[in-house]
Amino acid sequence: MGNWHNADGTLDPVKVRAEYPIFKTQPGGRPLHYLDSAATGQRPQRVVDALSKYLFTANANPHRGAYTLAQMATDGYEAARARIAAYVNVPASELVMLGSATEALNLVARSWGKANLRRGDVVLVTEAEHHANLIPWQQITREMDADLEFIPVDDVTGEILWDRLDSLMKLKPKMIALGHVSNVLGSIAPLAQIAEAAHAVGALLCVDGCQAVANMPVSIPATGADFYAFSAHKMGGLFAGGGLWARADLLAEMAPIETGGDMIHSVRLRDADFTTGTQRFEAGTPDASGAVALAAACDLLDEFGRDKIHAHEALMIERVIRELPEALPDARILGPRDASQRAGLVAFSSDLIHAHDLAEILDRRGVAIRAGFHCAQPLHEQLELSSSARVSVAPYTTHEDLDALFVGLREARKVFEG
Ligand code: ALA
Repeated sequence: MGNWHNADGTLDPVKVRAEYPIFKTQPGGRPLHYLDSAATGQRPQRVVDALSKYLFTANANPHRGAYTLAQMATDGYEAARARIAAYVNVPASELVMLGSATEALNLVARSWGKANLRRGDVVLVTEAEHHANLIPWQQITREMDADLEFIPVDDVTGEILWDRLDSLMKLKPKMIALGHVSNVLGSIAPLAQIAEAAHAVGALLCVDGCQAVANMPVSIPATGADFYAFSAHKMGGLFAGGGLWARADLLAEMAPIETGGDMIHSVRLRDADFTTGTQRFEAGTPDASGAVALAAACDLLDEFGRDKIHAHEALMIERVIRELPEALPDARILGPRDASQRAGLVAFSSDLIHAHDLAEILDRRGVAIRAGFHCAQPLHEQLELSSSARVSVAPYTTHEDLDALFVGLREARKVFEG
């Protein structure tokens, strides 16, 4: 257990930073001001320590060997699954460990979608969806001759128009798929209300939780979701890891998409019976060491306290929203102005400076932001934007990082104002 807090109990990002070795480096010879944690989080020392400990002391193929070391590998993997499941408050028996959130969402669309969608059925997504929770639904609705419909965004602010939900429910969707926190707008979806509306018409709710799980307390049962996907790397885990929670009855009915070793009960030359439970969706050797690393990341985030992470990030975001108009007067902030309606990020555009130019100028000061579509091209097109700049924060984000951002923004403005 580290000491991560100030005397008043709030999170101290300077203490937190000490756990992340990347901040001891100077990419390009400059101190790093990393404001792109929504793309991927930095890795804590203890995550890499847990990974190497598992690989150096318990390395064997899980679920396959009868010898002691193989049992240790299996136990380590299953203990990690249980820890990750506890982090989002679900039973381990309902948490499928996969290679990414993208894989998880594709599994839901392809497995549940293939079995349940028929001609004319409706799947509802928002116009703000990340490509990972849009394209799988485009594909499966096309394949099943079903319809894809959209919860619109406000063309100016980009805010998702949740008040349209009632009228859209008249379409009697079979599935509503959306992000818990938009990776461009930063807005937190009112999931409990959406789940109630969905369930009232017999629809299921599939949630992409990638931008929520590291930034705020998430108890999946409280969201009302029927499926909930998240990725490891945004939480400080490894790149190739993701989780899918599915309601037990839905998981039991779903057919696997990937087949092969470890997901079978018995195999004959011409056919096979599949095993039950989460293992049925984890064909091949699992990324057990990645799960162990993610479990260590969960421990650390819980030590920080997710309510405290959320409060710290809200302070950082509130400052960005407050000071941005002075630094860059033509900045158009996408999503809600109220930082309390957001988690972890704020994106904006400017007619004066293209987002890519801005990112390049900021990089000269060691400030790393993301510029582009952020894997949400239709949203940008809806807002008539060719790109936006996105600042995203984490428990290790300091006021010095934001100072450097604003110095860089003023510098960029001078360059472009001439
Ligand atoms: N989905 C990640 C992002 O929004 C990559 O940046």
